Amino acid sequence: MSAYRICLLPGDGIGPEVVGAARRVLDSLPLSFEWTEAGIGFGVWQQCGNPLPDETLQAIKSAHATLFGSVTTPPDIANYRSPVLRMRQELDLYANLRPCRSIPHAISRPNINLLVVRENTEDLYIGRERLEDNGNTAIGEMQITRRASERIARAAFEQARLRSLNKVTVVHKANVLRQTTGLFRRVALEVAQEYPDIPVEDMLVDTCAMELIRAPEQFGVIVTTNLFGDILSDEASMLVGGLGLACSGNIGAETAVFEPVHGSAPKMAGLDQANPLATILSTAMLLDYLGEGEQARRIEAAVLTAIRQNQVTSDLGGTLGTQAAADAIINLLGGN
Ligand code: NAD
Ligand code: IPM
Ligand code: MN
Repeated sequence: MSAYRICLLPGDGIGPEVVGAARRVLDSLPLSFEWTEAGIGFGVWQQCGNPLPDETLQAIKSAHATLFGSVTTPPDIANYRSPVLRMRQELDLYANLRPCRSIPHAISRPNINLLVVRENTEDLYIGRERLEDNGNTAIGEMQITRRASERIARAAFEQARLRSLNKVTVVHKANVLRQTTGLFRRVALEVAQEYPDIPVEDMLVDTCAMELIRAPEQFGVIVTTNLFGDILSDEASMLVGGLGLACSGNIGAETAVFEPVHGSAPKMAGLDQANPLATILSTAMLLDYLGEGEQARRIEAAVLTAIRQNQVTSDLGGTLGTQAAADAIINLLGGN
């Protein structure tokens, strides 16, 4: 059996701790991995002036898949832009998949099995912002293209089929952002016609935010533009245990980068307090991407068992630290 080449991007804050924990879980599986590690984030910028060096992009491209932790992006440093955006855009990781499922824990609402499919390359995230009027007016450009809308809609319908989810909800704000999200809505509903077996509906983003709290069990796939997807996926994660459990995959045609939805949580950094399960569940998505579904299901089952047994960190009411919570998963997997 040849080894899977995995690139690790620990990043800033709690990133190195949760990536280290998830790597140990992967190493306990009956699979063979070859690891490379590359730099990303604010710490790397402080050292070399570039938060996403070319070597890092190369390392991601040369790997079968990448596991990323998180980075810190201080809002008040002029001309600094999050490397996460550049990574997604330069590698054309166009589909951001963010699943949310109920867990066997009082913190979670029941009967939720939804997937946010977030467009990952355009919208207000293209970074075309400028100040006018002596700094008293700020203008930002929002870009929506037919091409990006079409491929994200297709990804959404394919995911609905693959995961047997009951419908696709196209989320937009076409009553106000008429040209931009209007185009997204129109194209997604066109693509829906290629999938007559999958029910489709469209919904305004504010209504969707409200419905997610009122009756989240109604949703299957939510497909939406970049910024709405960012916000709705954090919201949805809180229905099923919070950011400590929310996993994601940034999928492109050439490669994919898996990461917890959460950020670098600077206040927790270095304290062995962060929940590693979001990153561990991201490795299950990574294994699915590599075609190792059986091992992915084993990790997901071990996570559910650890939650049932309260072998978890304090955000889920447990007493374990980051590394002990990962050890619990390794033990449940029968590893060492
Ligand atoms: P955050 O996600 O880092 O943390 C918000 C809160 O969520 C934390 O205070 C903590 O209570 C909880 N939390 C997050 N991760 C957790 C974990 N693993 N276990 C337990 N609880 C957890 O968001 P923030 O505080 O708004 O942002 C901090 C920094 O992270 C900012 O610089 C921001 O730009 C960056 N950020 C990075 C990413 C990324 O790298 N993908 C994502 C979001 C935010
Ligand atoms: C996420 C994060 C990123 C985003 C930030 C860190 C650029 O919040 O992955 O959800 O806005 O996409
Ligand atoms: Mn986010």
